[in-house]
Amino acid sequence: MEKITASDKVLLLGKSDFLVDVAKGMFHTNHGTINLSKLVGKKFGTIIKSSKGESFSVLRPNINDFLDKRLARLPQIISLKDCSLIAGLTGLSSGYNVIEAGTGSAFLTVFMANLVKPNGKIFTYELRSDFFKSAKKNIDDSGLSAFVDAKNRDISKGFKEKDVDLVVLDMIGAEKIVPKAYKAIKSGGFLVVYSPYIEQVKAVCNEIEMESFTEVRTLECLVRDYKITRDFSRPNTTMLAHTGYMTFARKV
Ligand SMILES: C[S@@+](CC[C@H](N)C(=O)[O-])C[C@H]1O[C@@H](n2cnc3c(N)ncnc32)[C@H](O)[C@@H]1O
Repeated sequence: MEKITASDKVLLLGKSDFLVDVAKGMFHTNHGTINLSKLVGKKFGTIIKSSKGESFSVLRPNINDFLDKRLARLPQIISLKDCSLIAGLTGLSSGYNVIEAGTGSAFLTVFMANLVKPNGKIFTYELRSDFFKSAKKNIDDSGLSAFVDAKNRDISKGFKEKDVDLVVLDMIGAEKIVPKAYKAIKSGGFLVVYSPYIEQVKAVCNEIEMESFTEVRTLECLVRDYKITRDFSRPNTTMLAHTGYMTFARKV
């Protein structure tokens, strides 16, 4: 079992969950103060108690813990269920080069960077300087900045990357970028457009039709959790009903 060092981030699971830097030293919560420096040299999996006697399991965080508990959110993110489908249906994996716009909160950027490392790269464009600064902090904090080239730039002004495996657009006016995206994608590569409204889906599909794309499909991802008990089991009463539509197309 690996030992915890002062430069690690740790996941604390207890009455509330946190993802913190061990280097922070004292960490204050509603459940008492946790002296993180006591963790150095201990094994991941250890239990630490707060000043109020509450127990927290100390685990090594994975990318989903980072995205869920640490990434600062400004504009609306693409949720994990939708990111997963984008990766699954495009074969996103190590070595892929990807153009993305807009970066937004960099949720999808970090998710993809974790998959394309160590040989691939995410070239991501963000128009607004305030969102860009916050996204850049998130990317740096994720430890994946070597696999991301983040630009504070309007993608509609053009981009120089070509022969990429995937272009992902999550921005107003995405339909206007489709012809440029087509040129940048290598044959066999994918375009994915994430649209909150069906009107944007239609505008995007009209543009896709003008290019030599195949395997065009639009879908949404509905995830329903289940409540399982010893007596009666059934779906949860509430669920996240709508996030966005995803249009996929493959260049031939
Ligand atoms: C919904 S957010 C993207 C969220 C991102 N996918 C995530 O998971 O965190 C849309 C972003 O696109 C940016 N945007 C809009 N038009 C753009 C353009 N022409 N070039 C670059 N970014 C643009 C917006 O400023 C906004 O930050």
